Amino acid sequence: MTVTRERLAVLGTGTMGHSIALAAALAGCPVNVWGTDEADIRRGQTGIEEKLRVLQRHEVIDTQGAADIRSRISFDGSLETCVSEATFIIEAIPEILALKQEMFHKLETLCGPDVVFASNTSGLRPTAIAALTTHPERTVVTHFWNPAHLIPLVEVVRGEKTSDDTVRRSLELLRTLRKKPILVQKETLGFIGNRLQYALFREAQYLLEQGVASIEEIDDAVRYSIGRRLTVTGPFMSADMGGLDVFDAISAYLFPDLSTDQASLETMRRLVDEGKYGQKNGHGFYQWTPEFSQKMNDERETELIHWLKKDWGI
Ligand SMILES: NC(=O)c1ccc[n+]([C@@H]2O[C@H](COP(=O)([O-])OP(=O)(O)OC[C@H]3O[C@@H](n4cnc5c(N)ncnc54)[C@H](O)[C@@H]3O)[C@@H](O)[C@H]2O)c1
Repeated sequence: MTVTRERLAVLGTGTMGHSIALAAALAGCPVNVWGTDEADIRRGQTGIEEKLRVLQRHEVIDTQGAADIRSRISFDGSLETCVSEATFIIEAIPEILALKQEMFHKLETLCGPDVVFASNTSGLRPTAIAALTTHPERTVVTHFWNPAHLIPLVEVVRGEKTSDDTVRRSLELLRTLRKKPILVQKETLGFIGNRLQYALFREAQYLLEQGVASIEEIDDAVRYSIGRRLTVTGPFMSADMGGLDVFDAISAYLFPDLSTDQASLETMRRLVDEGKYGQKNGHGFYQWTPEFSQKMNDERETELIHWLKKDWGI
């Protein structure tokens, strides 16, 4: 296991913060995690314990491995002490531009100019996040995917002023964390993964509103077709293997017919307006009973761990 020279701090203990910290500790990297208060820190610790249990159940790690990982993760309620020794900081606080700008500004008062500030934003522009900093060359986006300890991709997005050295250090760190970093050369909202994911989500909503099929049938259509194939061949490889003449002929009649809606469609709008946010509060496109929730978490983790073991040769 190659261990990075960077000293890592993660800001935020939420869905992403604690799983990014776990990803680092799994790869042998010590990490300090900042939480807003005691309850926030407890949530992060609980999340890590649950994930460690699942990793043990699937024999990715043993009891000693779990203890070693636990010993690499320290939680801190003080931002100042959390980042005092850090050379590389990954911010995973809420997706509110002003909050991230303010955090990066504050970090500059606590850290030297060589410390990299990376944001885990889902799609905001790094240039905008760095707007209040005096050293924007050390700011970058490192966009992990949920759950961060199981999904390999991290999109590294450079802003207008991000230096080559910051990009190099980001890629190097992520490789030592056994991630699959992809460099996004030009900042664009949503980067690559979320643009593609949301193109699919918009079309899925459109098909639902048109009465083409049910929610379950649309989900199954993806799971049992392109979902199976996309783990091996991306869109360009799929097109090459299907025949570009065929894909071109289909594009000619299909592109003009695809959804171009500019906002969430009716069912989604209604669910959100009614406060039905999905798994997190029990209602969404599906009804999330505790049993169903547990079953889906188990199924997803089992599948993702299968791929992780394949990637890591274990
Ligand atoms: N959830 C996902 O699937 C996902 C995936 C990829 C990227 N992201 C991005 O990661 C970031 C974090 O998302 P999340 O889902 O972990 O959020 P979350 O709500 O689960 O956690 C946010 C954390 O930020 C901290 N926090 C809360 N309020 C704060 C405040 N006012 N100031 C500073 N810190 C505060 C707390 O530690 C909290 O636990 C966001 O930018 C999000 O867009 C999320």
